[in-house]
Amino acid sequence: MSKRATYQRIAKWYDLLDAPFERKRYQPLRPLLFQGLSGRVLDAGVGTGRNIPFYPKASEMVGIDLSPAMLARAEGRRVEVAGEVQLLEMDVMHTSFEDNSFDAVVSSFLFCVLEPEHQLPALKELARICKPGGEIRLLEYSYSQDPRKRFVMKLWAPWVRWAYGAAFDRNTHQYLGDAGLEEVENRFLVEDIVRLIVARP
Ligand SMILES: C[S@@+](CC[C@H](N)C(=O)[O-])C[C@H]1O[C@@H](n2cnc3c(N)ncnc32)[C@H](O)[C@@H]1O
Repeated sequence: MSKRATYQRIAKWYDLLDAPFERKRYQPLRPLLFQGLSGRVLDAGVGTGRNIPFYPKASEMVGIDLSPAMLARAEGRRVEVAGEVQLLEMDVMHTSFEDNSFDAVVSSFLFCVLEPEHQLPALKELARICKPGGEIRLLEYSYSQDPRKRFVMKLWAPWVRWAYGAAFDRNTHQYLGDAGLEEVENRFLVEDIVRLIVARP
C-alpha cells in the first residue's frame, strides 16, 4: 500500500490512536522544534497539524503533506494560531518550492515513514529548499539499545508498519552528509528512542 493510501485510511483515527503518545511523549517535544525560529518555515509531513499550536507567532508557516485527508484535519487546527499558515498537498521528495525558499525546515516523525531508499532524496530536497545556514530540525525514532525496550519495540513494529507505514530503524542521520547537510546536533530527547536531529545545508 502506498504511503498516501495508508494515511488516507488512517487519517480519521490518527489523533485518537496517537493520543496516549501525544500527551505523554510528543507534546513536550514539539515546542523544541520551533524554539528561536522565525521567517518562512516549512513543516514537512504536517499530518493532522499536531505542531500547529506551537508555530512561532512571528513566522510565515507552510505545511506540506502527501495525504489530503491528513491535511483536512490540519485545516481544523489552523485557527489555533495567530500567524499565517499555508497548507499544501505535496510530496517531500518533489516539492514545487524554489531553491532557498525557507529560513528553516522542521519535520516530526516523517522520516520514520519514508522507506530507506527515500531518505536521501527527501533530505536532498530539504537541503535544496532551505536557505544556506538555515536549520533543518527532525524528530525521529530509533530502536532502543536496552534489550527489554528493544524487545517491546520489536513487538510493536508490525502494527506500526501496518497502521502508519513506519519503522524504528530508518537511521536518517546517516544520510545527512550525502544530502549535502552538516550535522549540528543529534541527541536523544526521550530515553534512547526519540532523537532530535539538527542539520544545515
Ligand atoms: C507519522 S505522521 C506525522 C505527522 C506529524 N508531523 C506529527 O508529528 O504528528 C507522517 C505524515 O507524513 C506524511 N507523509 C508520508 N510520506 C510523505 C511524503 N513523501 N511527502 C509528504 N508527506 C508525507 C503522512 O501523510 C503523514 O501525515
